[in-house]
Amino acid sequence: MPIIAHTDGWILQTQTTAYALGFDSDGRLVNRWWGVRLPYPEDYPAPPDSDGYASFNGPAHLLPEEYPAYADGLNYTEPCLKLTYPDEVRAVILKLEDSTHSDDTLILTLTDPAYPALHVMLYYTLHAQTDIIARRAVITNTGNVPITLERVWSALWYIPQDGLNFRHFTGRWNDEFILREETLTHGVKTIESRRLTTSHHHNPYFALHRDATEDSGDVWFGLLAWSGNWSIRAEVTDFGGVRLGVGVNDWDFAYQLNAGESFRTPTAYAGYTQGGFSAASRNLHACLRGTLPHAGQPRKVLFNSWEVSEFDVNEASQKGFAQAAAAIGCELFVMDDGWFNGRDSDSAGLGDWWPDARKFPDGLTPLVTHVNALGMDFGLWIEPEMVNPASDLYRKHPDWVIHHPNRPRTQARNQLILNLARTDVQEYLITALDKLLTQHNIAFIKWDMNRNVSEAGWPDAPGHPRELWVRYVDGLYHVWGTLRQRHPGVLWQSCSGGGGRADWGILRYADQIWLSDNTDPTRRLPMQANFSHVFPPETLESWVTDMGADYLPLAFRYHVSMCGVLGVGADITRWSDKQRDQARQLTEAYKAVRDVIQFGDVFRLVQTDPYYAMQYLDATAENGVLFVFRTYAPEPTAPMRVRLRGLQPDRLYRVEDHAVVRSGAAWMADGLTVVLGNFESRLLKLTAT
Ligand code: GLA
Repeated sequence: MPIIAHTDGWILQTQTTAYALGFDSDGRLVNRWWGVRLPYPEDYPAPPDSDGYASFNGPAHLLPEEYPAYADGLNYTEPCLKLTYPDEVRAVILKLEDSTHSDDTLILTLTDPAYPALHVMLYYTLHAQTDIIARRAVITNTGNVPITLERVWSALWYIPQDGLNFRHFTGRWNDEFILREETLTHGVKTIESRRLTTSHHHNPYFALHRDATEDSGDVWFGLLAWSGNWSIRAEVTDFGGVRLGVGVNDWDFAYQLNAGESFRTPTAYAGYTQGGFSAASRNLHACLRGTLPHAGQPRKVLFNSWEVSEFDVNEASQKGFAQAAAAIGCELFVMDDGWFNGRDSDSAGLGDWWPDARKFPDGLTPLVTHVNALGMDFGLWIEPEMVNPASDLYRKHPDWVIHHPNRPRTQARNQLILNLARTDVQEYLITALDKLLTQHNIAFIKWDMNRNVSEAGWPDAPGHPRELWVRYVDGLYHVWGTLRQRHPGVLWQSCSGGGGRADWGILRYADQIWLSDNTDPTRRLPMQANFSHVFPPETLESWVTDMGADYLPLAFRYHVSMCGVLGVGADITRWSDKQRDQARQLTEAYKAVRDVIQFGDVFRLVQTDPYYAMQYLDATAENGVLFVFRTYAPEPTAPMRVRLRGLQPDRLYRVEDHAVVRSGAAWMADGLTVVLGNFESRLLKLTAT
């Protein structure tokens, strides 16, 4: 049984892990265990109890409360829930009222006996096969006077070890997914977004460990599936316990919960493994693959026009690129920015989502037909959440943007943000984009968002204006979800100036993510490997562009992009016949192994500059792909030693280019030596004999 209820509370069991909770003597819901699964229910520690410490810290401060509210007694740690009752009381005391569970979900209902209108439902859903637990909360006002919410986290996780290192990813536009790691010390460490989008600067992902490596060691890891402001807060208390809160950011946040209304938090996913970072990411991949909209559908090799044409697109030029793209094996032709009304630069057009008659006198249909006749699907770029002041839409609806009255409307890239919290804006976008998708044979949409928020006001908000942060994201999900439902065959890419919206929340709507506008392959190597901690390869779109062409061979650039969903964004019409021929062969080689790459297990074998090695292995462990790269290092440099992973120890395997057939155990323990020159790379197939 995955969920065991007994006198001490509940034990939630996944394949190899367990999470146990229960009650202290005052009825507080407390954590008992998060770690390896133990043989017997009696093995798990009893719920901790405490009388407090001196007169300065009460029991609630010392106990690992599952969902602490502010402020229950002498407690100064970070709470999950902060609110103000209609009578201005801000102290909340939660007691269990009800519990129920199915095979995979435990639902606990907590209430505040003095304020029975408040219902807090905690959901624990087990993804047992992948050792992942998903937590979320639903707060309901069953009374008839509004309650003001000020913080509602999705989960608080307790890590039963101290001296922990905190791993996370930071970055900025054009430089995403830099791996950071620091030892947690007393106090609070926060990573967050305050920008309305998710992830240029920090990704809503964490991993905590003491001395784990890629292959071994205890790791507690997780993320928040949300595409707006979020925070992850790791706190080491005065008694040394480590707790980590995950949720919508409470920075500038308030939410008026009216009579009968519920607030649903996004889901926080987390897991524990003894297998190091590699196992942690494979568990996340397997879990996400269970919910991806087009799970298991091979992603097509695409061509994208942006770095080639920028805003200068028209029917004739794009037909030319389509011809060239088809000839090198592309299967999907995506026209990026520049195609819609009035769009010659970034200073006009956003909001007016119909083809520019100067560039496409007969609409998009002739181009789409041409692309389809070449045997490719057609895709299109849009940036629905934005408006240029120089657009019909803004001239008609200047009040539709996020703004404060009497304050400047700060433009970034000459654009303002439509307030997607507004239902009229949502309806406009659904109608305009539905028309676009209905009138054309569009198989793929790249959904972009190219600025961060400023002057985050919502005049005439029906509730609290600070609900904007959450209602905007709900509106985004509503628009995207409606379009998805009406056009189920379309695949979508999430882009926000590169990796500004790389999160599991958007992956309920999007199929692929544009990791970064930085397409230089040597920069992409670590970036892509770091991305793979959180996301599986079928979500990673990666183009071969002209960046790096001055110092890297074409094969190197292709091999980097093959470590995900291969795309091309280079001016292929300027490539020589020889280069185009090579590109076609490399694309064929990719297609031959793409199922293994896109749906396989991922192993980051080597990540020490100048050497990088990535391995992909199918579910049967019979077919694998190994990519090896050397960037630049002056000679003499020792060759790269690669030890393979995930093979069946007793089976015999062949590694392409190597004469010997050896056991999986030998390839994993001894491995192979790869001799590469500067800026060389190789794709090597692994095959069980
Ligand atoms: C963003 C994207 C690019 C491209 C441009 C178009 O920067 O990340 O890939 O689509 O917008 O304006």
